[in-house]
Amino acid sequence: MPYLMGIDISTTGAKALLIDSSGTVVASQTTELPLSTPKPLWSEQDPADWWNGIVNSIRKLLAQTGISSNEIKAIGLTGQMHGLTMLDAQGEVLRPAILWNDQRTAKQCDDIRAVVGREKFIQITGNDALTGFTAPKILWVKQNEPDIFKKTAHILLPKDYVRFRLTGEYASDRAGGSGTVLFDLKNRDWSAEIVDALEIPQDWLPTTYEGTAITGVISQQAAEITGLTAGTPVVGGGGDQAAGAVGMGAVSPGIVSLTLGTSGVIFATTDGPFIESEGRLHAFCHAVPDRWHLMGVMLSAAGSLKWYHDTFFSDTSYDELIAPAADIAPGSEGLYFLPYLTGERTPYPDPLARGGFIGLTLRHGQAHMTRAVLEGISFGLRDSFELMKQAGLSQITQVRISGGGSQSATWRQMLANIFNVELVTVNTTEGGAFGAALLAGVGVSVWNSIDEACQATIRVTGSTLPQSHMVAAYEPHYEVYSGLYHTLKNTNETIQEVVASQQ
Ligand code: XUL
Repeated sequence: MPYLMGIDISTTGAKALLIDSSGTVVASQTTELPLSTPKPLWSEQDPADWWNGIVNSIRKLLAQTGISSNEIKAIGLTGQMHGLTMLDAQGEVLRPAILWNDQRTAKQCDDIRAVVGREKFIQITGNDALTGFTAPKILWVKQNEPDIFKKTAHILLPKDYVRFRLTGEYASDRAGGSGTVLFDLKNRDWSAEIVDALEIPQDWLPTTYEGTAITGVISQQAAEITGLTAGTPVVGGGGDQAAGAVGMGAVSPGIVSLTLGTSGVIFATTDGPFIESEGRLHAFCHAVPDRWHLMGVMLSAAGSLKWYHDTFFSDTSYDELIAPAADIAPGSEGLYFLPYLTGERTPYPDPLARGGFIGLTLRHGQAHMTRAVLEGISFGLRDSFELMKQAGLSQITQVRISGGGSQSATWRQMLANIFNVELVTVNTTEGGAFGAALLAGVGVSVWNSIDEACQATIRVTGSTLPQSHMVAAYEPHYEVYSGLYHTLKNTNETIQEVVASQQ
């Protein structure tokens, strides 16, 4: 029986997953990864932890399943996007990787806008320069750690460092490449114009491949360390969001995926390089060859609910916490929750945005507050959905929901009502690793295309339809919510000044 492996280097774990050629998940193993925040706003990981973590997961997976590694026909990679790994000419890591959620580069984002021009930058890369992306991180190292910059010979994304250790190749996929914002979105490869304008040596950049293309094979050395078979093909794969969309079957225009994890991501496939004119939505290449996507990222989605639960109700289960909220009217009787607990990315790229409850009265109790939290997160996600419609995606027929938050029927109904769209669940729950395994399968012709792979393996398991009276009831509350960020923007900046002056 042929098997396929998906590898996911996320921020929290290094996961290896095996599926068979019918798309059935055989087993998976995850090794937790440490995260370091050496200074406020910084977020780093040691690339050695990614490698040691995935070696451990692969070895455990092979031992657990008893599957012989030569039955694994191909491997696909996915993982956290945007992280910067810097290597010297010998391939040695020069400093800890700077991750997607690191916020130290506000100045370098301004520098990029000044050097290239904001409009032109958006036109070429599809995106504004945001602190999360890779390009400003490279400039930060140049400006703050010139000795490291001088020794650099290669830069890689997190999963591509693992690819390098597996195959010896400096390679990346196009979904990941476009997330560096050094990409020409339309031409699906590095933009010489942007790279030169930022004075980044072009030979530092890895070769890029479509998600299903073979980028190299497992080396003899990696085979000895991992237990995999030397010569096994490794395909391009994709950034976690693009590979996750493949794993949900969100690969054609009209089907949107909503991932309700710590962060909340709304992802829409496009058949051309669609750009939101202000760069508020991310526009990247899809892991599917010759497709693109638009994406909105809310930084604290289910993460806001977790904060609320852990801070105030840690002895209560999530089900017990949410149940009473189902009986409260839409809009929580005028109570609003702002979910900007770690700043925000879409639609407000603002590291200083803050969370809060607005509109509290004596009438409001725990159930109102819980409902307001769920509604605030849902309203914030709708902001991205509205931007997609404004950018011209008028044919959205279905939203496929996944992630921890999707398990609550109350929350699913609320989202269907707030978005006014059918929300469905699918049979696959392994996200990006599953998508990466499908990409691997297409790379070695188990399926002829990603569309075929998704049709063969992914099916809808449940549907939640919007309720028209609730849709109408939510509209004025969404209007109020939408104004609150703007009302509080200056106050948040003042709060930051006050806090900083006392540190
Ligand atoms: C996408 C993004 C996150 C990271 C970490 O733009 O920043 O999805 O890839 O998961």
